[in-house]
Amino acid sequence: MDPWDKINPKKDSSLILIHECVARGHKVAVTTAANLTIRDSLTMSQCLMFDSKQEIKANMVSFYKKAKLTEKMLPLEGFDVIFMRADPPMDPLVLNFLDSIKNDVFLMNSIRGLREANNKIYTASYYDPKNEMIPATYVSKNKEYLKTIIEEHAGNKMILKPLNGFGGKGVIVIEKSAMQNVNSLLDFYITGQEGKLSNYVILQDYIEGADKGDVRVLMLHDEPIGAIRRVPAKGDARSNLSAGGSVVKHFLTKEEKKLCRSIGKKLVKDGIYFSGLDIINGKLLEVNVLSPGGIGDINRLYKVKIQKEIIDYLEEQVKSASLLSTRKQEHRKLIDNA
Ligand SMILES: Nc1ncnc2c1ncn2[C@@H]1O[C@H](COP(=O)(O)OP(=O)(O)O)[C@@H](O)[C@H]1O
Ligand SMILES: [Mg+2]
Repeated sequence: MDPWDKINPKKDSSLILIHECVARGHKVAVTTAANLTIRDSLTMSQCLMFDSKQEIKANMVSFYKKAKLTEKMLPLEGFDVIFMRADPPMDPLVLNFLDSIKNDVFLMNSIRGLREANNKIYTASYYDPKNEMIPATYVSKNKEYLKTIIEEHAGNKMILKPLNGFGGKGVIVIEKSAMQNVNSLLDFYITGQEGKLSNYVILQDYIEGADKGDVRVLMLHDEPIGAIRRVPAKGDARSNLSAGGSVVKHFLTKEEKKLCRSIGKKLVKDGIYFSGLDIINGKLLEVNVLSPGGIGDINRLYKVKIQKEIIDYLEEQVKSASLLSTRKQEHRKLIDNA
């Protein structure tokens, strides 16, 4: 996750998950990507380990402030679960560090899932020729091609955003009536700084109704476990909370539930067990697989504790993996003694 001392205990979703694990008596350690090391082909990390005997405060801020932690270099293979909770962007090299332990530890999300859904190409790769689930989306770094797309686009508005963006950064509305800006914008988004590679951008159909906000759904395995509506600040096109948006309750409509169900199947197939979907007007904008937040907001608005469901799920995964391994060993014995 991000560094422990940078956490905002009032709204951090990772802290709520940690609190639930520690309260259940699990051994919990936190670490950052920068602390990963390989020693004799063992992936280790400099971790902060929670003292399992400490008194656990119910309040998140006191829990955070009073937490007793010891710094230790630990082999990651020894853990049952690794929950990837660092905010994007993720250095893809982190996945190489985890490759060697992926068969022994339950990774939320799996390496394959993180690799495939790490940026916005993931939704563009869904097969949806009639754009019933996903808005028309173009990914390219070819300026001439992108300009033609804008010119030939049926509506007046499109969204332009960086492929690797997050938190609403760089998301802008492009209007055909202001084409004189497009050249300069595409140059700005695509051209890399000196010595750096150029960037891909996304052009996307502007989804009507976006001004009323977007729906963030937290998905666990293939099911939605909570939803909120994020409303953009006045005069902004982005609903991200980090871009000034605010949250209100949202009960999923029939169409949204249907969308979640069909996306959910693919998520699980791709090794994505915990994610945040961004939906506007029944269309999927983005699948967030790195550290989706909003647990605190959902808990507060609906008077629930969805962290319980999430940690139950992890315990289930570990239990079934351990049952399988015991069964294997028993059968192995039969073969050895045959
Ligand atoms: N195609 C679109 N139509 C309308 N609004 C959009 C569109 N794409 C993005 N937005 C607005 O910008 C916000 C951020 O876009 P998103 O694709 O989720 O990127 P990020 O990774 O930065 O969150 C969305 O939550 C939404 O409010
Ligand atoms: Mg988003």
